Amino acid sequence: MDRLDLLRIVPIFTDLEDEVFKKIVDIGLERKYTKNSIVFLEEEIGAILFIILNGRVKVVRTDDNGKEVILSILGQGDFFGEMALLDDLPRSATVVALDKSELFIIHRRDFLDLIERTPKVATALLRELTLRLRKSNEQIENLSLKDAVGRVATVILQLADEVGKIRKGAVVIEDFPVQQDLANMAGTSRETISRTIHQFMHNNYVEQKGNTLIIKDYEKFKNLFS
Ligand code: CMP
Repeated sequence: MDRLDLLRIVPIFTDLEDEVFKKIVDIGLERKYTKNSIVFLEEEIGAILFIILNGRVKVVRTDDNGKEVILSILGQGDFFGEMALLDDLPRSATVVALDKSELFIIHRRDFLDLIERTPKVATALLRELTLRLRKSNEQIENLSLKDAVGRVATVILQLADEVGKIRKGAVVIEDFPVQQDLANMAGTSRETISRTIHQFMHNNYVEQKGNTLIIKDYEKFKNLFS
């Protein structure tokens, strides 16, 4: 997919008229990031909106001891960095490239102009923020009400919903996150992730091939853990 096609599928741009859309493509710039590089740090002052053309990023908060919680993993077509632009406060989280990534950037003034002039963009933005709030609510429930096995299963189900591909009742999750990232998503340790996934494999719920995870019977797994 080229840059134009990719930007067209960004939820906040899909309904835009061609002329407005072309303007955005013209004013934006592309930036490349290597795997594991920091896009920005929590508490920095921010003046840019980022849209993912290629690759994935993780949105994280880190405590004083360096312990990390992953708030979200975002991929192609997702945007981030809108919060600091909208409320004028510092960045609410750190963003790190999980893969070699290409990001499209729009400066604050251009982004705010776009929202003010284009109600469709404002509505699409609100819809996306609402979706993120719903996911955060689920995450709160997951982290506070479930035991470790339930939390790991829920993280696997979330990944299946977001990036999984359905194949005859099974769901295939490619680029399954590394164990430490899974631990930081599920609020548990790397050892617990390792133990739980082995248990799931032993029970024939999942299969792992390299960095691909397969949920063998998605409906059954979902019924067991959600
Ligand atoms: P900003 O605060 O500018 O910088 C960090 C970005 O991470 C933030 O904007 C959002 O785009 C994104 N972000 C923060 N919290 C979440 C969340 N819970 N889910 C998804 N994205 C988030």
